[in-house]
Amino acid sequence: MANLKIKVKENISGKFFVDSTCINCDACRKFAPGTFSDQGDYSFVSKQPGSDQEELEAKQALLACPVNCIGIEGDKDLKAARDSFPKHIDGPVYINGFNNESTFGADSYFVTSSKGNWLIDSPRFVKDLVNKFEEMGGIKYIWISHKDDIGDSKKYAEHFGAKRIINQFDVTDKIKDAEIVLTEEETSIDDGIIFHTPGHTKGSQVLVFEDKYLFTGDHFAFIKKLDMFASFRRACWYSWEKQITSVDKMKKFKDIEWILPGHGRMGQIKRGDFHHIVQKSVLWMYEVD
Ligand code: SF4
Ligand SMILES: [Fe+2]
Repeated sequence: MANLKIKVKENISGKFFVDSTCINCDACRKFAPGTFSDQGDYSFVSKQPGSDQEELEAKQALLACPVNCIGIEGDKDLKAARDSFPKHIDGPVYINGFNNESTFGADSYFVTSSKGNWLIDSPRFVKDLVNKFEEMGGIKYIWISHKDDIGDSKKYAEHFGAKRIINQFDVTDKIKDAEIVLTEEETSIDDGIIFHTPGHTKGSQVLVFEDKYLFTGDHFAFIKKLDMFASFRRACWYSWEKQITSVDKMKKFKDIEWILPGHGRMGQIKRGDFHHIVQKSVLWMYEVD
């Protein structure tokens, strides 16, 4: 529960507030950009919601917050926001909300498929999502982009009888009993194609669906400060050199229209533009210190 007594001083007064336990994961600013802003080290309420839509988004942000540091004074009815997750993005793709503290609040996704649904990285294991996933046909695979995003995947796997998929180099104690451990550069599983993209971690991987949806974990995202897609120079745990090579290799994905990361911002792009986007990123990546 957020604590009014330790709310950050930048909050504009009104119904919503952020307290000083914020870990600056960015989730609230993605779900409710009109309400939450970045102070540099943490988020604060820069404008109270001014419409029903903004109010819903602020409540979605509250539920997405991995450390419960967003509070409400007065009406605390969160039903509509709870019911809105997983939130539809495009085609078979949904974003889950309920971000997990153990993944540093990374975004996770849900993808529906006639061959069996996929959970993409791991939200918190909460009843709201479990019930929704059940209604939507359950989970067949849980794809873990890399070891930072294992989260509650074991609980989801046990509940749904799902198979967890991870690269061999990112198997840790938390996932040593994974059902599928990938060892190849490229692997097709039902309608997903998984590519090994070492760099952020040794076992980082990306997942392509229907040629147009690219799930990237922490490998590649729209970075607001740079105003472009790239990798995170200051959050590269394995090898920046290898990460550049791994980004460059993605040029072969010709028809990508959605880039869906764990951290950083998602982006919709024009079909055919992905090659140039990657090229621009690689040039920047070579130059940055
Ligand atoms: S979601 Fe919560 S922890 Fe993350 S930046 Fe917003 S207020 Fe901070
Ligand atoms: Fe990561």
